[in-house]
Amino acid sequence: MRNITKRFPGVVALDRVNLEVYPGTIHALLGENGAGKSTLVKILYGIYTPDEGVIILNGRRVIISSPIDAINYGIVMVSQSPQLIDRLTIAENIILGLKKYGYYAPVKLVEREISKLAEEFGVKIDPSTDTWKLSYTQKQMVEFIRAMLLGVKILLIDEALTYLPIEERRRFYKFIKGFAERGGTVLLITHKIPEAMEAADKITVLRRGRVVKTVEKTEVTIDDIRRMMFGERSKEITYERLPPGAPDGELLLVENLWVEGDFGGYAVQGVSLKVRRGEVFAIAGVAGNGQKELLQAIMGLRPIRKGKVFFEGEDITHRSTYYLRLKGVGYIPDLPAKYGVSIENTIIENIAVIPVYARGFIDWDKIRSLALKLIREYDIKTPSPEAPVKYLSGGNIMKVLVSRELNTATKLLVAYNPTRALDEATAIRVRRIIKNKVINDNIGALIASEDLDEIFQIADTIAVMNSGRIVGVFPAEKAKREEIEHLMVM
Ligand SMILES: Nc1ncnc2c1ncn2[C@@H]1O[C@H](COP(=O)(O)OP(=O)(O)OP(=O)(O)O)[C@@H](O)[C@H]1O
Ligand SMILES: [Mg+2]
Repeated sequence: MRNITKRFPGVVALDRVNLEVYPGTIHALLGENGAGKSTLVKILYGIYTPDEGVIILNGRRVIISSPIDAINYGIVMVSQSPQLIDRLTIAENIILGLKKYGYYAPVKLVEREISKLAEEFGVKIDPSTDTWKLSYTQKQMVEFIRAMLLGVKILLIDEALTYLPIEERRRFYKFIKGFAERGGTVLLITHKIPEAMEAADKITVLRRGRVVKTVEKTEVTIDDIRRMMFGERSKEITYERLPPGAPDGELLLVENLWVEGDFGGYAVQGVSLKVRRGEVFAIAGVAGNGQKELLQAIMGLRPIRKGKVFFEGEDITHRSTYYLRLKGVGYIPDLPAKYGVSIENTIIENIAVIPVYARGFIDWDKIRSLALKLIREYDIKTPSPEAPVKYLSGGNIMKVLVSRELNTATKLLVAYNPTRALDEATAIRVRRIIKNKVINDNIGALIASEDLDEIFQIADTIAVMNSGRIVGVFPAEKAKREEIEHLMVM
């Protein structure tokens, strides 16, 4: 990619960017939220056309004006959200994209190839399974398998691994390493710098739309990369434990809770816990062990079959989400761009929708100044508070959600992976904001996270959830990392 420039109203997303990637390499593309990473790979995938600059493939200039063009050149993108049709089987989904077999795709043959590739991931999968039955991880695996069957030569991964549990991520990294060893090219976007350093051969750092530098992995340290990414802000990056709160008094009480999962059976099996004022109560666990369902049930988003929930002493077991929101409960759900914000709407409208503001008359002036305040405090990169959320970068969408919910949480914050999709410096900043708020405003926080660095940095109490149950609760200062990890996977 040579001299690529891309402007959007009010921002130069890419400014004369040069990027060269080679066969047989994993090339990481790193940079803070809004740096231009997604825009660059979207240009390569034919979603955006550059205002200036050219793309040269194997020595020849090419014009890529749609993903179909890109796929014909062997360029395939896998993003955060799976692009599969739920009502079709895995094989049908994959056949949809395979022109090489013509209209009469030999289903059996494709099914065999799918199974073979799944084995490379180290899992068994039946290609005739309906896609809606698959977990997020399995859907992402199908996306990778599809890319392989499409004959991918350059695989673009835009945070496609971000939402996967750690163990699964390792599996995916092994798979893409195998692909690179066979001559494939991977362009990898992630905010997990240590993972990028581990997986990549080369690294290009983008900052404010410009290339800071392209380096060989072996010539730099993690700290060098952080300095290139964040400049002065890199000094803020620390994984030390934040000052502890002084928990006092019971705020949220969960008693013997039973909650169903999406596919029958109980995802939450008799969970009891207590969150105090002034406390960050963190739940560690591998994704898919009931954390999501537990938080949804507390928030009134999933029916409770058995057990009770009390908030400030009041039984709220079957209360609505609306009711809890009015009481001052903030909520950060999983899949933020799907369940947390309405991406077609503006930042202001996304704030106005919160029950405390949306009762009766909406005071737009007040909401506008709140939007401006949050944009300033969280450094949300946007041309204006009137911008539709879909025009923001992934991390900045997350900042809109997190800032709004922390503002709503005048008593309790319930959050699922609150710093996912945020760059490292911003993630740590958000943890500080949460912690300060818990201490200064004496609120409680119930946070489920798969990121142990996050848990150890922020928690006052650490619980481990495994197979729908709480299998251990520790005061954070006494918790041992190995023990927590063991409980998570045993
Ligand atoms: N369709 C669009 N319309 C207007 N502005 C856009 C659009 N897409 C991206 N931008 C802007 O371009 C800049 C770069 O965004 P991009 O999504 O490439 O960042 P990113 O590096 O992927 O960040 P993140 O880590 O948060 O995903 C941002 O300022 C963003 O607001
Ligand atoms: Mg992005």
